[in-house]
Amino acid sequence: MNASEKPQFLAIIGGSGLSHLTILEGAHRRFVRTPYGEPSCPMTLGTICGHPMVFLARHGHGHTIMPSDINYRANIWALKALNVSGIIAVGSVGSIDPSLAPGDLVVPDQLIDCTWGRASTFFGTEPGVPMHVDFTHPFDQLLRERLSGIADLLGFDIKEGGVYACTQGPRLETTAEIRRLASDGADIVGMTAMPEAVLARELGIPYAQLNVVANYAAGIAESSAGIEFSALGPVLEDSMCQVRLMIEALVGCKLPG
Ligand code: HPA
Repeated sequence: MNASEKPQFLAIIGGSGLSHLTILEGAHRRFVRTPYGEPSCPMTLGTICGHPMVFLARHGHGHTIMPSDINYRANIWALKALNVSGIIAVGSVGSIDPSLAPGDLVVPDQLIDCTWGRASTFFGTEPGVPMHVDFTHPFDQLLRERLSGIADLLGFDIKEGGVYACTQGPRLETTAEIRRLASDGADIVGMTAMPEAVLARELGIPYAQLNVVANYAAGIAESSAGIEFSALGPVLEDSMCQVRLMIEALVGCKLPG
């Protein structure tokens, strides 16, 4: 049996706009203890069309944990302990590329890490333990293709590829910072892909990001005068409906008739 034939047990990590997954059947919670402390919340296990999966709310069930305070190591370690075969990480982002409008879906293929001070490795100082993981391609190609394929089947427009810049937050960026990220080649900006992506890589879990554009980034298009973050809810809600349909189709191959 090769990797693509392995029975899948997907994990969804939900971010802003997706803090629970009502489509899960037989949902029940499980507390997972880790050597790194507490995950953001208990894992929610359940099925979609008979296919098991697990959901984790990255910011906690009440969305109370800031991006820099998330215990990424505990979250990823807990998912590994449950033996998941892949992670789809859902998040909201700002668009740096003006052709990406609020509400658009993006599956990035590259990453720039602008975070600091986050616990970003499982590798310690024990002799013989590798510490330099390959991260040339930070997101899993097979999972990315599956996300794009499902979007095609559902008739959703999706941007395949793009560079995700991960900032520290919780504040939004300045116009000059976004200008600099644009000249570095970034297309979207968010606050949570790192160290989540690299920790999954260290534990050998295929990981891909599915992002919803919530707003133009600072200084771009209608955000040139500023960003009213509290006004972004409705945009996210609509697109998160598409994300839910994609997850249903991805996990359970349940496509609308
Ligand atoms: N910047 C950083 N993170 C974000 C943004 C943004 O403009 N929008 C949603 N998440």
